[in-house]
Amino acid sequence: MENKGVGIFDSGVGGLTVLKEIRKLLPGETLYYLGDTARVPYGNKSKDTVIRYSIQNTRFLLKRGIKLLVVACNTSSSYAMDTLRKEFSELPIIGVIEPGSRQAIEASKSGHIGVIGTKATIKSNAYKNTISILDSKARVYQQACPLFVPIVEEGMHRSKFAHEIAKYYLEPIKKYHIDTLILGCTHYPLLSSVINDVMVNNVKLINSGKSVAKKVYEYLLGHNMLAKARKGGVEFFVTDAPEQFKKISRLLLSEDINDHIKEVVLEDE
Ligand code: DGL
Repeated sequence: MENKGVGIFDSGVGGLTVLKEIRKLLPGETLYYLGDTARVPYGNKSKDTVIRYSIQNTRFLLKRGIKLLVVACNTSSSYAMDTLRKEFSELPIIGVIEPGSRQAIEASKSGHIGVIGTKATIKSNAYKNTISILDSKARVYQQACPLFVPIVEEGMHRSKFAHEIAKYYLEPIKKYHIDTLILGCTHYPLLSSVINDVMVNNVKLINSGKSVAKKVYEYLLGHNMLAKARKGGVEFFVTDAPEQFKKISRLLLSEDINDHIKEVVLEDE
């Protein structure tokens, strides 16, 4: 079991923000990352479609031989987690909603927490519901930011345009005097500096990557499933446009992944 890898998927490059933290904490593990770049963004799709895509992604990664799956996508975590856990009951699956919610509750002093995410994640109320179970006193204010994902996928996250769009989305949420803001989409940490600029008043940004990585570590340790190797590796799979994926991953991971990336076609069912 310890020789198997850890599977990670997202609709595109966003999940790399989670992969980066997993790699830091667990350098001995072999990681398989799938970015479903042919079908990004997931955040504007219906629940049924996101569930179907998530099942296909999981099947693909299972074929690589994985001992644990990380759903490094808030949209899939919001819509598909229950189905994935039922459908793949033997496979341990870790999503991003619960770790991010816990991190936000711990960070917030006022209990006024903002959540930004895709349309689907916001519509699902996944964060709102999870936070209210964990802390009934917390207040949650949500805002969908549908243009953020294409901005990141295009590598425009440091542009003036990104700043203008961030202003458009975030100004309304400022009136709630939140002290903590959950980046409820794994693409958004790339926009952290732009978001920080707009929020100005010292709002803590929550990127769940670290706490997800910690959860993976604790699970593998607790179940005696940690890799024995000192040095693991990563294989990347994308369903379209590897060049664009390589470009963004170079920015994010500060390395070339040229020899470790493959374009693949996912099976229908
Ligand atoms: N990065 C994903 C998320 O965390 C998906 C965004 C999208 O494809 O719309 O929600």
